[in-house]
Amino acid sequence: MEIEQRLIPTGLHIFGRAAELHQKADLLRMVASFDRPEHGARALPSLVADALGIDCYDQLLQETPTSETTELVDGIVAEAVQQFCESGAEAAAAWLNSRAGVDIEKSFPTLSLLACIAEQLDSNNEIESLMRALRGEYIAPGPGADIVQNPLVLPTGRNTHAVNPYSVPSQVAFSRAKATADALLRRYMEEHGRYPRALALVLWGLDNIKTQGEGVAQALWLLGVRPVRDALNRATEVEVIPLEELQRPRIDVVMTVSGIFRDLFAPTMTLLDKAVRRVATLDEPLELNYVRRNISERMNDGAAEFDEAVTRVFSNAPGNYGTNVNFMVMDSQWDTPETLGDLFITRKCFAYTRDSKGRTVEGREARHLMDNALSPVEATYQNLDSFEVGITDVDHYFEYLGGISRAVETRTQSRPAIYLCDSLSPQTKIRSLEETIRLESRSKTLNPKWYEGMLKHGFRGVAEIENHVANTFGWSATADAVDPWIYTEISKTFVMDPVMFDRLLEMNPDSARSLTSRLLEAHTRGYWNPDEETVEKLREIAGHPNTRLEGVV
Ligand code: BEZ
Ligand code: MG
Repeated sequence: MEIEQRLIPTGLHIFGRAAELHQKADLLRMVASFDRPEHGARALPSLVADALGIDCYDQLLQETPTSETTELVDGIVAEAVQQFCESGAEAAAAWLNSRAGVDIEKSFPTLSLLACIAEQLDSNNEIESLMRALRGEYIAPGPGADIVQNPLVLPTGRNTHAVNPYSVPSQVAFSRAKATADALLRRYMEEHGRYPRALALVLWGLDNIKTQGEGVAQALWLLGVRPVRDALNRATEVEVIPLEELQRPRIDVVMTVSGIFRDLFAPTMTLLDKAVRRVATLDEPLELNYVRRNISERMNDGAAEFDEAVTRVFSNAPGNYGTNVNFMVMDSQWDTPETLGDLFITRKCFAYTRDSKGRTVEGREARHLMDNALSPVEATYQNLDSFEVGITDVDHYFEYLGGISRAVETRTQSRPAIYLCDSLSPQTKIRSLEETIRLESRSKTLNPKWYEGMLKHGFRGVAEIENHVANTFGWSATADAVDPWIYTEISKTFVMDPVMFDRLLEMNPDSARSLTSRLLEAHTRGYWNPDEETVEKLREIAGHPNTRLEGVV
């Protein structure tokens, strides 16, 4: 059910062109599945459930996301959105009233919001705005966010602005973060029977813009503090949440922030650093304060002074971006897994902190401090926040989450548990990396709806398919997280099927060949073990890039 219902992009956005009707219906259904108090609009599924007399629908959704009841409600909502697309808001309201008894006044605010969004999806100012920009003219500003999270991003073609870093994390972000971080700890607890001694978190700039700092808020909540605003309403301080209220130990967190995050969120990095230092100085038992426990172990080892042992916020050197792990993987320039983890540390071991005397350290190389901070880490984590960009769509997820996981593994001699959160759906869902890769492979790479959507774009579409294969490979290289069947199915779908392979070859021979070579490399490196015949065919094609498959077989 999860795979079937997952929203995926079925094609690429074409600059200057409005979305098509069928794309719109799925998007609008997703938009309508969240309460929008700022628009006085309630989620359509809750309205339908209320009208049908279903009690505690939200709770049911959290506990059993797929049941006959949720199927019934989702079916009615899908039909209502379909009616909306075909005949407008009034027809949809009338239909909801006759089918489920939803009061017209109640559904009206939600359907009017959809009408507004639908109209903005149809209007597209991208080309006109680009021309204005090139002429040096004024472009109206608009917020940067995911369309489902904040429909005010529409219309597109505006001058995107980010956030005020002092407003991060927002209250909404903090309350959502509590649910997510608790779910993460629950999942770890179910699998390991205790809390992790420390977590390594990846924080990105764009994600924290889109969610107003959910990732930041998760870190604070794990530490057991909440943000406090000053007289100018800026989140510059933290308040310690008492252990009695927290009802669990304070979890140690090591934060690797991207270069974009560092550039955008300097005050937020100060806040995070402050939070760790505050927690490290609390007079609490070590078994309930893992930050203190880890720091005192380091200090007892004689490995570090307090100021060093408390450093938890790391990024690139000033002016530098990225981990380069993706480039090393794509160019096949590594021998042992440690090489990838070491490269990650080399790029990201620059400390951003303020010492006990209040002196700022902004990007000082601190390899041994990062090694020390990572040594108690037992799980790594990153948020997913957009249905358009998942962990196999771009190489950045494996360079960051995969890179840090490999770095942890080689430092602790044990593979960390790796988790992601899908905070896009109304029910937050923690998945292991392996589960997420299976879901992405089934819903995108191996899903005919996805790849046929891509193939409509010809050359670029084939390149996208190849990217997915390469990024999947990146998860083997950095985290050994890809089931062999995934490679088998990719090979069957795109290479071993002569009709399909011919189509790829016709549209983009370079990508068709690279995709094949990547599958072979995955075999050479031991990520899957295809039968002899398959290996032969892959070799043949990779060696003769322009040979049509019939010629080879
Ligand atoms: C960021 O938003 O920080 C980010 C985006 C893409 C790649 C790496 C980082
Ligand atoms: Mg890029």
